[in-house]
Amino acid sequence: MTTQTNHSLLKKHILLGISGSIAAYKIPELIRLLRKKGAAVRVIITNTAKKFITPLTLQTISGNTVISNLIDNSSSDEINHISLAKWADIIILAPATADLIARLAAGIANDFITTVCLASTSPVAVAPTMNNQMYHATVTQDNLKKLKNRKYIIWGPTYGIQACNSIGLGRMIEPLIMVDLINNYFNSKKDFKNIKILITAGPTRENIDPIRFISNYSSGYMGFAIAKEAIKRGAEVTLITGPVYLKTPFGANRINITNCMDMHKQVHKIINKQNIFIGCAAVSDYRSKTIYKHKIKKEKNEINIFLIKNPDIISTVANLKKNRPYVVGFAAESENIKKYAYEKLKQKKLDLICANDISIPNNGFNSKNNKLYLFDKNKSIQLPYCDKNELSHYLLNEIIKRYEKN
Ligand code: PMT
Repeated sequence: MTTQTNHSLLKKHILLGISGSIAAYKIPELIRLLRKKGAAVRVIITNTAKKFITPLTLQTISGNTVISNLIDNSSSDEINHISLAKWADIIILAPATADLIARLAAGIANDFITTVCLASTSPVAVAPTMNNQMYHATVTQDNLKKLKNRKYIIWGPTYGIQACNSIGLGRMIEPLIMVDLINNYFNSKKDFKNIKILITAGPTRENIDPIRFISNYSSGYMGFAIAKEAIKRGAEVTLITGPVYLKTPFGANRINITNCMDMHKQVHKIINKQNIFIGCAAVSDYRSKTIYKHKIKKEKNEINIFLIKNPDIISTVANLKKNRPYVVGFAAESENIKKYAYEKLKQKKLDLICANDISIPNNGFNSKNNKLYLFDKNKSIQLPYCDKNELSHYLLNEIIKRYEKN
């Protein structure tokens, strides 16, 4: 049996800056994974971080001297902050404490990490790691905003139980995810860079009484897969979703809604800043005219629920006179796919429509796989039947071609 090693980070120079957090114990694993992919790794550590992880461990795993003090007479290497700043293809600060983030934001250069960052023109990725109150503190959020405005990349934090036993946002992203992000940074095509995409996903729920609603079987898989792929390719993604049980794709700005009116409102709050709109949500066409305050009782043999039409969100976007984005719709059809898809394309004034044939088992709603037929005013094409993640890749290839010509 042969073992294949993926050297996707071959010859990449990765400079890791570790600051004082318990999450520092995960960094040797990160270094191991990066080296396995062919990267050369050098490590800088703050004095506080040395209390959580020893330089000897990091030196052994990275295969390089670990640097800590700005002036280190004991080191025989010709390493200084300027040479390291030039050496790095990317600087990763993980874990990055609130203190390190504050010093970077203020332009303070009082240790090796902050000095290298100031002296470098390489991209810097920051993995914030701290107690959730500290993360939500206005000053930390202001500091992160400052770093973002200066083109620092912010990875995380994630949600979960913290070392201090509180639950919330503040955990460092896991090494495996960090390696994926580094890999994507170097290797994925960034054809959606500087493009803002608004995606709707999942079902809507239209309440009838406090416990009953009209909805459908949309799981959100398709919309979330498109969001994930678009982020990977450099897009700035907002994901407006109905009630689903899915994790937010890393880097997406997620807005949860329940019904069509909420979705309509949230879409129009930000639509004028978007380049592309993808309406993947299965939005209910009708809502109950009355939402009963109390549970409807089982007293009569028949009851009438009067339904009224919901706004057609995608049509309101496609009909915008100012700042109209490129508009991509979806259609779930069980017969006459081509005819109905073309009708929707025309009626709703869309640029592109993606039709699912929901008569095929395991296709469309609540399935891992899907098959899409794309129609625009000039032609129609079929995308392969495959996993929704892979399908999103093909779909975005088609969207970007058309968006650029538009
Ligand atoms: O979420 P999954 O389980 O992964 O399933 C994915 C999906 C099948 C839901 C998705 O691929 C899909 O086809 N979404 C649209 C489903 C649909 O019901 O389409 P429609 O024919 O009702 O609507 C056509 C288009 O108008 C859609 O882009 C829809 O978002 C939009 N619309 C519909 C009604 C409405 N009131 N407002 C809208 O914007």
